[in-house]
Amino acid sequence: MKKILVTGGAGFIGSNFVKEIIQTYPQSEVVNVDLLTYAGNLENLKDIEGHHNYTFIRADIRNKDKIEEIFAQFEIDTVVNFAAESHVDRSIVEPEIFLTTNIIGTQVLLDVAKRHWKINPDDKYCRNYRDGVKFLQVSTDEVYGALGKTGMFVETMPLEPNSPYSASKASADLIVRAYHETFGMPINITRCSNNYGSYQFPEKLIPLIIYNCLNSKHIPVYGDGMQVRDWLHVKDHCSAIETVLRKGRVGEIYNVGGNNERANIEIVKLILDVLGKGKDLIRFVKDRPGHDRRYAIDNTKITTQLGWTPKYTFEEGIKETINWYLDNLDWVEGVVNGDYLTYYQQMYEL
Ligand code: NAD
Ligand code: TYD
Repeated sequence: MKKILVTGGAGFIGSNFVKEIIQTYPQSEVVNVDLLTYAGNLENLKDIEGHHNYTFIRADIRNKDKIEEIFAQFEIDTVVNFAAESHVDRSIVEPEIFLTTNIIGTQVLLDVAKRHWKINPDDKYCRNYRDGVKFLQVSTDEVYGALGKTGMFVETMPLEPNSPYSASKASADLIVRAYHETFGMPINITRCSNNYGSYQFPEKLIPLIIYNCLNSKHIPVYGDGMQVRDWLHVKDHCSAIETVLRKGRVGEIYNVGGNNERANIEIVKLILDVLGKGKDLIRFVKDRPGHDRRYAIDNTKITTQLGWTPKYTFEEGIKETINWYLDNLDWVEGVVNGDYLTYYQQMYEL
């Protein structure tokens, strides 16, 4: 792992990952390719601007010529694909871009990697992969669909995505798998639960609650607020990806989660309490169409086979996250431009 292409590295998880990886692998070269959509922000990376083993390139993963050029110029041997449209509500309003970025963009990256790495389908049965070459697709637990009151997602479950976002991520997973099966592409797929932490765009639940609390705005709680998500600190997600890059068996899928299930309303009340705000800010609104009731990750495979464990407890992680937003109000104001609020106003009749 000497020349790492990270896509979507100016977004929430990608920027946390890039900052970690350039420290962990000072001998490696990290190339961050990001289109800088509304969700990508170079402010997230200002600490490492000009770092000796880091290069940023503004480019679209759907642009094959540009991706070819980058592979050739940097002799990329590892790809970590974060680049995506990532918000379920947006995917309900504008599904098309989710299909082009999340599916076609992934296929373009696979195709260029296949050519550049001279992947030979005849090698695949003897698993004769070149050392240090890997394509890691960052996926989500949402590809499995929704759970009832019991049960957990395991890697062997069928995919039953319910939103255009999760359907596009599931499609990308299947294309990645197909490149492995057909051509012998050395791949891993990670499927992580909901992340929280610093630099998350305030359209997602946790930073949206914090942002609205700080501005004394109503917090829209979809439906009855009893939907359950399995929350993981972003730094634990990054360490899981780094573990899979190093130790993941080629062709395998790994679920990533921290056994931390919480109902949405519980999270809202917790943050209101920490910020000393009243429950009168809570506004129950029309439910999200196709809203998945519960997600829960069984992380046995990654913990037992690769030895990864999450480090953060939710209690410490959420306090650290709230403090980060309080200390970085300029960042929050800088990324919010009113545009995202229109989505909520339109969809949930606020
Ligand atoms: P994000 O929306 O914060 O960041 C996405 C990044 O991708 C942005 O920087 C954006 O500019 C970039 N991008 C979008 N389209 C692009 C294109 N065509 N070409 C190049 N760059 C493009 O998302 P995130 O929350 O950091 O999620 C990153 C990845 O992790 C996604 O693939 C997502 O599906 C997955 N994931 C997210 C979570 C979560 O809770 N946030 C959980 C599991 C998996
Ligand atoms: P979100 O952060 O959008 O992540 P995802 O939909 O990918 O899980 O939402 C997390 C949960 O919070 C989900 O059940 C939807 C709910 N939610 C609200 O109730 N109100 C909100 O304003 C937002 C953004 C989400």
